[in-house]
Amino acid sequence: MRRGSIVRITIYGVLAGIAASLVAVLVPWLPTSASKEMDRIEFTFWFTTVICIGVFSIVAAAIIYSILNFRVQPEDESDGPPIHGHTGLEIVWTAVPAILVTAISIVSAIVLAQNSDAGPNPLRIAVTAQQFAWKFEYPGEGKVVSGELVLPVDRPVKLTLHSLDVIHSFWVPEFGQKSDAVPGIETTLVITPTKKGAYRVICTELCGLGHATMRAPVRVVGQAEYEKFLADQAGGGTADETSGEAIFTSAGCGGCHAFSPAGSDAEVGPSLDNVNPRGKPLDEFLRESIEDPNAFVESGYQPDVMPNTFGKSLTAKQLDALVQYLVDGQKGS
Ligand code: CUA
Repeated sequence: MRRGSIVRITIYGVLAGIAASLVAVLVPWLPTSASKEMDRIEFTFWFTTVICIGVFSIVAAAIIYSILNFRVQPEDESDGPPIHGHTGLEIVWTAVPAILVTAISIVSAIVLAQNSDAGPNPLRIAVTAQQFAWKFEYPGEGKVVSGELVLPVDRPVKLTLHSLDVIHSFWVPEFGQKSDAVPGIETTLVITPTKKGAYRVICTELCGLGHATMRAPVRVVGQAEYEKFLADQAGGGTADETSGEAIFTSAGCGGCHAFSPAGSDAEVGPSLDNVNPRGKPLDEFLRESIEDPNAFVESGYQPDVMPNTFGKSLTAKQLDALVQYLVDGQKGS
């Protein structure tokens, strides 16, 4: 091979490498990391990307050189020269990718192991998923349950995920980690938040008509503020138990139903602003519709869309409060 050819191939390779690097760096492919686990995932991502850019540059250089140099002249329909192959080259292009892929596997395996290790004393929070809401149960005396995930910064958290109905998936983009919540089994997820701020849990498993609305707020705060949050929740205590508004929010009703007092305007299910109780007392009709949604289905809506688990997942007191909240919020009355 002539020296000029080598120089040209090198130039093509460098240009291809620069172009690929710009695409990798200038496009914000990943959300800004807010957890140790995400930092490790980012490392794996960039480790792999650098290798890919290297391989791409070599392949692109060979292709560009070949297209420019070995192009057949118009009208030339003769056969190409018979080439047997090049054993040395074949060994190299088999061995090098094998080594690179093995390196990626090793890095990934180490990161996966580290990302599922919560250390000796993690904060344990139980996460319950149901169509179409998230519920978080905190450790401690108060047994605080909230529709908001509040985490102290820089402390490993072990989430145990449960589902009451179908498969959901827990994902906070900035935390990187993701896991399904599967009915009947317990899955776990480790997160060590590193940045205070507000984030969002997004359900990433298609779980029904309200899937797109299945989100929950996340706050990463200092240890003192975390303790204050727990104390406030435990003190008011029963806020969850007796406030119909809080139950409306935490049970995810607003994900599907419009209800002016709660500020929701979703259209998956019928509006709750002007409920027609079909000849029954309003509170009785509302209670029946929550416990057994298929008992009466508003025309224009489908049965089996609304989960029939609320009769079980809400306590009797919570049901009373929720029904009362809906009754009080009727526009007509
Ligand atoms: Cu729950 Cu999608």
